[in-house]
Amino acid sequence: MTFPFLRRRLPRRTLLLAALALPLAACGRSGQTWQLDNITGVMPRLEFQLTNDLGQPVTAQNYKGKIVLLYFGYTHCPDVCPTTMQLMADVVQQLGTQAKDVQILFVSVDPKRDSLPILKAYTQAFSPNAVGLTGTMAQIDALTRRYRVAFSYGKPDAQGNYVVDHSAGVYIFGRDGRIRLLASDSNPPSAWVHDLRQLIADEF
Ligand code: NI
Repeated sequence: MTFPFLRRRLPRRTLLLAALALPLAACGRSGQTWQLDNITGVMPRLEFQLTNDLGQPVTAQNYKGKIVLLYFGYTHCPDVCPTTMQLMADVVQQLGTQAKDVQILFVSVDPKRDSLPILKAYTQAFSPNAVGLTGTMAQIDALTRRYRVAFSYGKPDAQGNYVVDHSAGVYIFGRDGRIRLLASDSNPPSAWVHDLRQLIADEF
């Protein structure tokens, strides 16, 4: 039996169609090319009110000045979340000294099970550049709606375990909070590294 992840049901095709709908002229400086999906200007700038994994209230302002990789998932996820988190951790590590300019934000769509200690242990296990974010359902809904992220809860089994279907895209924001790129674990690490280096250099 396989888990009915949204990503499998409406997977890359959705991202691809979204990418095709973009104006082809939406590139940065002349000569710049992007290997991830360029969604500059297509979605709103980064904005949220959540709680970090230390229990402190945070907003997008707290991460201003960094390239933000925004991802939605849950710590009990058996495959997509660990795969994507590991990929992002590897990519950030490959950036070397530039890694300090990048912040991975893992937003829980399962706040009931993802307590602060669980969230903190989970994100830190992948990368020192990752932080877990959670909040009230209303706060999480506001952010997922903002970026058209879908998630839904599966039926609990006899032990009370359940899966959470969720979109698996990573939204990448510039230092100023503007949306720039959309990525997923289908993009090779080299594409991430290339584009992140370009973003880091671009916005200095
Ligand atoms: Ni997941």
